[in-house]
Amino acid sequence: MTQAAKDRKVVRIAMNGVTGRMGYRQHLVRSILAIREQGGVDLGDGRVIWPEPILVGRREHALRALAVTHGLDPETTVSTDLDAVLADDSIDIYFDAQVTLAREAAIGKAIAAGKHIYTEKPTATGLDGALELARRATAAGVKHGVVQDKLFLPGLLKLKRLIDGGFFGRILSVRGEFGYWVFEGDWQEAQRPSWNYRAEDGGGITVDMFPHWEYVLNELFGRVESVQALTTTHIPERRDEQGKPYAATADDAAYGIFQLEGGIVAQINSSWAVRVNRDELVEFQVDGTEGSAVAGLRNCRVQHRAVTPKPVWNPDLPVTERFRDDWQEVPDNAEFDNGFKAQWELFLRHVVCDEPYSWDLLAGARGVQLAELGLRSASEGRRLDVPELTL
Ligand SMILES: NC(=O)c1ccc[n+]([C@@H]2O[C@H](COP(=O)([O-])OP(=O)(O)OC[C@H]3O[C@@H](n4cnc5c(N)ncnc54)[C@H](O)[C@@H]3O)[C@@H](O)[C@H]2O)c1
Repeated sequence: MTQAAKDRKVVRIAMNGVTGRMGYRQHLVRSILAIREQGGVDLGDGRVIWPEPILVGRREHALRALAVTHGLDPETTVSTDLDAVLADDSIDIYFDAQVTLAREAAIGKAIAAGKHIYTEKPTATGLDGALELARRATAAGVKHGVVQDKLFLPGLLKLKRLIDGGFFGRILSVRGEFGYWVFEGDWQEAQRPSWNYRAEDGGGITVDMFPHWEYVLNELFGRVESVQALTTTHIPERRDEQGKPYAATADDAAYGIFQLEGGIVAQINSSWAVRVNRDELVEFQVDGTEGSAVAGLRNCRVQHRAVTPKPVWNPDLPVTERFRDDWQEVPDNAEFDNGFKAQWELFLRHVVCDEPYSWDLLAGARGVQLAELGLRSASEGRRLDVPELTL
């Protein structure tokens, strides 16, 4: 059957925040429009899910320009009136990629309007708000999902494959390095929006990255049972989009140690003030009794117990062994799609076909909880337990 002959199950999605970095590139272009370009989500039974985006935001001219650029009719697919869009019964899903501070109120309204919810992380600025959203959405009987894109990256999918195949034996530890240099904005423009560096605007690397580390650790290795973090602001003054100096009131580096169920120790450094001397912008080294792996966004290298070299500490002699040469690349063995798109497709199937979906607002609340506890651990200078969340 050709795609055109298939029964189209139209799903209308109000997309709020599509002029932003994530909303535009990853969610609109690389996910929803890419799904339309491939002919929809093929359900394999003669039906396809056909997403129809409605671009919602504050600046009409910017939204109209986006619509025109991508062949959408600006008269019918653009709105600056969120309340009116939510009151429209033909809208199935509310999606949020706004700045974090604006999220909770908008999702709250969308739940009240009976829409299914799909959202960027963090889902709220505090645990209470995040849990409240999860409870309200569940009580309202709407479907809900939170972006957990790192789980769908090729490097981490290969890592998961190694774990599932028993490659590591007993996993001992996880070491993560995430970060890159974000320019201060004085002599080269910053490559991230300035709100990221102002706590009062919902910024900070802990609230940005700990939600990611929570689901990566939880899904691959085990529940995070405790957190100890040291956070800091290495660069106290930056320049904004207009070139004006501002005080960076949010943390730009977070050094975290996480104890996981089963005794695994994870240590993850997150920093916007580090220069990259790695193969990828994030890398996780996993050491187990039978073997080790280093996974990045795309690639994953392994070293098995049987081929592990035996270095001897002797600072008097130059190092002759090329340790990195002793690692082996894990093959793709599959085609990997864009991680955001892959997760969108699963969420759309969840909405239309009721397929199971575990990355919901409660999972999102766990990420907010870890960020909140990480910041508290840093300010109190002590390790904190991470209580298990329930609705
Ligand atoms: N999943 C990921 O890997 C990932 C990566 C980066 C950011 N994010 C999350 O995505 C969200 C957006 O981040 P971004 O980097 O795209 O930011 P951005 O500043 O590029 O975009 C923010 C969007 O929100 C809109 N906006 C700005 N101020 C607003 C306000 N006061 N009220 C309502 N809307 C406002 C903007 O017009 C824009 O559309 C954040 O919550 C961030 O945590 C996720």
